[in-house]
Amino acid sequence: MSFPNSESDLLGLKRVARLLLLIWSVSVAGIIVGVDAKKCSGEHWVDIWGSMPQLVEPGNLPSVPYNGTASVFQNATLRQTVYITQTASTIRLQFSNAFGGSDLAITSATVALPATVNGSSGTGSSAIQPSTLQTITFSGQRSFIVPPGALVFSDPLSFSVRAQSVLAVTVYLATGQAGHAITGHPGSRTTSFMGPGDLTSSPDLSSSSPDVQRTDHWYFLSTIEAWLPAASSALAIIGDSITDGRGSTTNANNRWPDQLLSLLTQKSPTTISIINQAAGGNRLLADGLGPSALSRLDRDVIAHSAISYCLVFIGVNDLGTSALGPDLVKTADRVVSGYDQIVTRLHRAGIAAWGATITPMSGPGQAYSDPERERQRQRVNAWVRDSGRFDAVVDFDKAVRGGNGENQTQLDPRYDSGDYLHLNPEGYRVMAGAVDLALFERFRGKGMNKIVRKVRSTGEREQMRANEK
Ligand SMILES: *[C@@H]1O[C@H](CO)[C@@H](O)[C@H](O)[C@H]1NC(C)=O
Ligand SMILES: *[C@@H]1O[C@H](CO)[C@@H](O)[C@H](O)[C@H]1NC(C)=O
Ligand SMILES: *[C@@H]1O[C@H](CO)[C@@H](O)[C@H](O)[C@H]1NC(C)=O
Ligand SMILES: *[C@@H]1O[C@H](CO)[C@@H](O)[C@H](O)[C@H]1NC(C)=O
Repeated sequence: MSFPNSESDLLGLKRVARLLLLIWSVSVAGIIVGVDAKKCSGEHWVDIWGSMPQLVEPGNLPSVPYNGTASVFQNATLRQTVYITQTASTIRLQFSNAFGGSDLAITSATVALPATVNGSSGTGSSAIQPSTLQTITFSGQRSFIVPPGALVFSDPLSFSVRAQSVLAVTVYLATGQAGHAITGHPGSRTTSFMGPGDLTSSPDLSSSSPDVQRTDHWYFLSTIEAWLPAASSALAIIGDSITDGRGSTTNANNRWPDQLLSLLTQKSPTTISIINQAAGGNRLLADGLGPSALSRLDRDVIAHSAISYCLVFIGVNDLGTSALGPDLVKTADRVVSGYDQIVTRLHRAGIAAWGATITPMSGPGQAYSDPERERQRQRVNAWVRDSGRFDAVVDFDKAVRGGNGENQTQLDPRYDSGDYLHLNPEGYRVMAGAVDLALFERFRGKGMNKIVRKVRSTGEREQMRANEK
């Protein structure tokens, strides 16, 4: 649709708008999703999958030919799979150009259920079940140009997904994205496929061209939402590589949030989604591998749909990369103040703020291993446990640290992936088990606003600090 430059174009535009409205109403199969309807139906949009958008580092861009000299993904198709966290029958997808240096021109896109070979979940599959293939539209059109810094939602689709099942999303970019600044999520722990030309309807990307490549990264796709009853809501997790799943198994969905989802679905269908807003190397106070948690909280948590709970599990990279000496003590103080700020901002949005203790980072050859850093980790953890500032505390440190004495400064060897920092799938299982599932009920939905919170005055805070020393 070009810019209207005459009255007749404008009339045409009105006709298109009416048509769009019609398509839109029909496309959700009789489910009314208008603003007014929201009040009557008691349903709302809820995140059912998410990954943290970040500027893709040069080394995590696709390889040639998908990494061109002037653009990325030119005349290319990208098929990605994601692990859905709540059962739904109406969904919509969000693509992000938050960090792009130029327009992100999506030419066409489809969704489908992946082919599940030999009982696999379909995670990291290049093949789909062709009968489930649906074309995605954006405001009634197949294509959409997302400006730099912006995002786009697809129109709602009638498409059934189950909690702990996998969705395949395929996008085609005719022109690609100019330059090399694009938005993605490198730590996908999931295999994606790239092929030449428009392969959005291809039953199996890997057999469609000899030029198909695989990569363990995600690009552009940032959130999937579903139209769900009012009782459904989501937990967002602000985290680093431990939550992003370093040490877990690629395409096996055994990161600790995935294993928490298994626990949530054990007895009955879950009404809680889990949204993993973590990235490797991420810090609370400083940018680096992804923007700081303090700078991304609005985009990654507060702006999302139906987040009732946020677990804050970040800080190991702040303590681990700080200079030693007085700087390190200041960093630890700032981590605590940073948590305090996050609680204020989450509460302002009606979101329950849960804290987590930082897991051990000491061991031979581990770059973060240092008695000073360990002391500051203990200080920060003591504040998380004892300040009462978080609505609830998940004691990951206690759950996964070694048994006795000196070993409490290290991960239990049974849970260590081998680098004394990241856990193995068994360790991630134990972390998932450390989350008290009763918390979800305690802080459910609107009950949150009724919680009487301790609002501390400056004087009370000063007294608390004095007590800490
Ligand atoms: C992609 O191209 C850019 C620009 O030439 C380069 O900096 C980057 O290292 C390349 N990345 C890969 C994975 O090929
Ligand atoms: C599925 O299992 C069969 C029998 O074990 C095996 O021959 C085949 O290669 C497997 N296919 C894939 C795609 O793993
Ligand atoms: C896009 O790629 C396909 C498959 O390689 C090719 O047939 C087609 O000519 C290409 N289109 C353009 C405009 O380069
Ligand atoms: C302490 O940790 C070391 C190295 O991880 C291990 O070999 C040893 O068995 C542990 N000791 C105890 C008492 O847990």
